[in-house]
Amino acid sequence: MSVLDSSLAFSGIEQNRLPAGTKLYRGKVRDVLTSPSAMILVTTDRISAFDQVLGVLPGKGEILNQMSLQWFHETSDIVQNHVLKELSPRSVQVRKAKVLPVEVIVRGYLTGSAWRDWRSGVVTPGLEDLGQASGWKAHQKLPEPRVTPSTKAEAGAHDEPISHEQIVRQGLVEEGLWKKVVEVALKLYERGRRRLAERGLILVDTKYEFGLVDGQLTLVDEVHTPDCSRFWYLEDYDAAFREGREPKKLDKEYFRAWLISQGYQGYGPVPAIPETVWEGTLSRYREAFHLITGREWQPSQRTAEAETQLLLSSL
Ligand SMILES: Nc1ncnc2c1ncn2[C@@H]1O[C@H](COP(=O)(O)OP(=O)(O)O)[C@@H](O)[C@H]1O
Ligand SMILES: [Mg+2]
Repeated sequence: MSVLDSSLAFSGIEQNRLPAGTKLYRGKVRDVLTSPSAMILVTTDRISAFDQVLGVLPGKGEILNQMSLQWFHETSDIVQNHVLKELSPRSVQVRKAKVLPVEVIVRGYLTGSAWRDWRSGVVTPGLEDLGQASGWKAHQKLPEPRVTPSTKAEAGAHDEPISHEQIVRQGLVEEGLWKKVVEVALKLYERGRRRLAERGLILVDTKYEFGLVDGQLTLVDEVHTPDCSRFWYLEDYDAAFREGREPKKLDKEYFRAWLISQGYQGYGPVPAIPETVWEGTLSRYREAFHLITGREWQPSQRTAEAETQLLLSSL
């Protein structure tokens, strides 16, 4: 399952099969095909953690893409998004955006890196006013959801937290547009939070990417998936918080936590990942798919070659 050269790892298109004028960009999880007239996002089965690609989980690409499509649909009244046409369960034709160089993270709870930073006296940009005196507890709900942005690092590098002021001062995003981005991100989070609560989950935190299409703010990439969000089971939150433990979670955090338990946090040699951890991770993606879409995930029967032909004919 973890073999990176498996055909499932990629969109099935290699550079030498691309029509003239078409480019292939490989992100950590998605393959992006760009021709003069079209852009296609293929969500592959690659899995990353700590900004490194660590393996392949068959079916993950379809699961993620289907979840994102549902969320794009459910949030299109808040902000326009990049979706043009679903080509296959894992491939979608999108509007090409000029992507803003900032990851827009919204947090509803003091947990993860924000908690670790607060506890060790480091101020998380966007949470400056939490203060060190007040006795915050791990996994505590914030008074209101907050945007804690980070830079969008080049491939291989790690994203770094950045303050709202620095984003504007460094000219990464113009002030008026940044205000709009924050407003829209908080609305998206609120929509996600409500919908997921109906399905028994807490949207703990999540990351959005925005771009400009013909000057219009546009939601791109992926939305409210286990790759870009942290989900907790609502029913466990109160007891867990009282007992000072992290609530039962349903997201990639399971995979990340296992890596941390082995001493891996994105640097140095990657530990050998046992089959049980792959299976545990995939079962969480399937469960998230079920809760978010109300459907059981069924793997598509499409062959890699059929998928390649479809992509080539859509470029
Ligand atoms: N509509 C779009 N227009 C242009 N770029 C996009 C669009 N949607 C997503 N992207 C970019 O495509 C890439 C998707 O690949 P992904 O594997 O998610 O990358 P990453 O390794 O940066 O997470 C990202 O760089 C993302 O910013
Ligand atoms: Mg991404």
